Amino acid sequence: MTPLYIWRGWGVSLLFLFMWTGIGLHAEDGSRLWLRCDMPKDITLKIDSTMPDDDGYRISGHTVTARTQMGLLYGRYALLRGEQGESHPFFKLRILNHWDNLDGSIERGYAGQSIFWGMENDRFDPARLRYYAQACASVGINGTVLNNVNASPAILTRAYINKVKAIADVLRTYGIRVYLSVNFASPKALGQLPTADPLDKRVQRWWKRKADELYKAIPDFGGFLVKANSEGQPGPFDYGRSHADGANMLADALRPHGGIVMWRSFVYGARHKGEDRVMQAVSEFLPCDGQFRDNVILQSKNGPLDFQPREPYAPIFDQMKDTKQMAELQITQEYLGQGNHLVFLAPMWKEFFSYVSPSRLVGIAGVANVGDDSNWCGHHFAQANWYAFGRLAWNPSLTARQIADEWLNQTFDSIPAPAHDNALSLMLRSREACVDYMMPLGLHHIFKFDHHYGPEPDGFKADYPLEWCPVYYHQADSAGVGFNRSTSGTGATQQYREPYRSQYDHLGTCPERYLLWFHHVPWTYRTLSGRTLWEEMQHRYQRGVDEVADFQRIWQQLKPYVDEQRWHEVEQKLQVQLRDAQEWQQVCIGYFSKFAQRSVEP
Ligand code: GCU
Repeated sequence: MTPLYIWRGWGVSLLFLFMWTGIGLHAEDGSRLWLRCDMPKDITLKIDSTMPDDDGYRISGHTVTARTQMGLLYGRYALLRGEQGESHPFFKLRILNHWDNLDGSIERGYAGQSIFWGMENDRFDPARLRYYAQACASVGINGTVLNNVNASPAILTRAYINKVKAIADVLRTYGIRVYLSVNFASPKALGQLPTADPLDKRVQRWWKRKADELYKAIPDFGGFLVKANSEGQPGPFDYGRSHADGANMLADALRPHGGIVMWRSFVYGARHKGEDRVMQAVSEFLPCDGQFRDNVILQSKNGPLDFQPREPYAPIFDQMKDTKQMAELQITQEYLGQGNHLVFLAPMWKEFFSYVSPSRLVGIAGVANVGDDSNWCGHHFAQANWYAFGRLAWNPSLTARQIADEWLNQTFDSIPAPAHDNALSLMLRSREACVDYMMPLGLHHIFKFDHHYGPEPDGFKADYPLEWCPVYYHQADSAGVGFNRSTSGTGATQQYREPYRSQYDHLGTCPERYLLWFHHVPWTYRTLSGRTLWEEMQHRYQRGVDEVADFQRIWQQLKPYVDEQRWHEVEQKLQVQLRDAQEWQQVCIGYFSKFAQRSVEP
């Protein structure tokens, strides 16, 4: 066992944790997460009460110094990945959102069943839960929402609160607080009141009592995440009340206990039906700016639509000046090849931070990609996205390259330097490749209906809302393709701050990566390369396919350095990815060629 020297002030629980839980993440079946087991010898841990009170750490040689016990734990993991110097978390709230249903299924999950719910006899696997907690703690994640935003009211029954308590008791040791998604209509849905009107005194009392009950069981309970009046979920509109009325009522119930409400802005098709979907969040929430309690945080997806492979940033981050905000990123690859495609997401999240300064946000949430699969995330490389989320939540100024490099070192630790660089390049190019073979030049939401895997550019169903239909998003016709959101169209560009408002509004200055997001562009339009739009579109689809073929070549070269099982599993998935990329290319080029009135080059 590694000798530990504790300087002073250590807690028994922490010493126990270090000595007995180990720090490598090997499950019994041999699958593993990113952490290696070979810890440095002779680690010294010191408590220094003069350091900032934020769970940061300082590492010098093999000495880790921190003000808090969590700081020591984080520092120890950092030492393991080779860090030296001082580091403090940027965001206070670094939270995973699990879209796990109580029956064990996971909405948009591609890695098996829930690790929290739906197990036989309703008992979770404590060993699995501890591995999960270690992995989260190793990158500084300090909170987790245990259930789907499309929340079952049952989560607030006594039986489930007891289960939440049992989970919280395991996660607490690793500095992870639990939060719950709640159904706004719970008091009514659980049959206890005739209404869920937030201004009704009985409803207010119900939530206060529920908060008291939760905190009695889980004294460090974090708070609620709420999806209200969105995609069929109940909410304050049902009673003619605003989002602020709804959020504040819950905030008041949680306030005496120090809890928070994370209220989602992912709302469309409710009060602003018919308006361009990407504009509706601002239209809905701007009138509430400045009206939320200070323990309410508005949680918005990085883009204004829905986790597409590329979206411009969501302008709600510009508009809500007097409201606390957090960003919601999607780690699970709903729209990026799900469990099959190797797509490293850090470059996408860095792109978001280049428009929305992290200093505007009080926290960050990531929709988790974890399940009970032996490799945890469905694809070995999808683990890198969980890792990257945590690292960026701790330090958003890390580069995608640094994060990929760290992760590779800890996950595929026997790859020698030149081959390691190729693996790095594969990861860093993978997101752009995905954009190219799925939706280049600002195309968006042309996925197959509902499951969102594969292309369906001709998708239209008269009985669905238009904003669920691909044809609404690309608007292809014989004149051109793309959604006119400039001032001559829906005017969505006007929700942006300058210089982006003007830049996006004019075809000539709009970055090509957002071209068809903001403009309906003639097929013969000259792009920066000198190619026409139609030629450029074909070029980019081909480039995406070629990139995946190159990823396959790189992976072949890595064979000698990766254990057989993982090498083989990734290789199989790359084959699927190539086939899918070719399908995207064929279907989309075939479909758009009908409008471009050009025959497809052989
Ligand atoms: C997407 C996703 C849904 C999810 C929703 C949300 O639309 O497809 O499954 O419930 O986002 O974020 O609430």
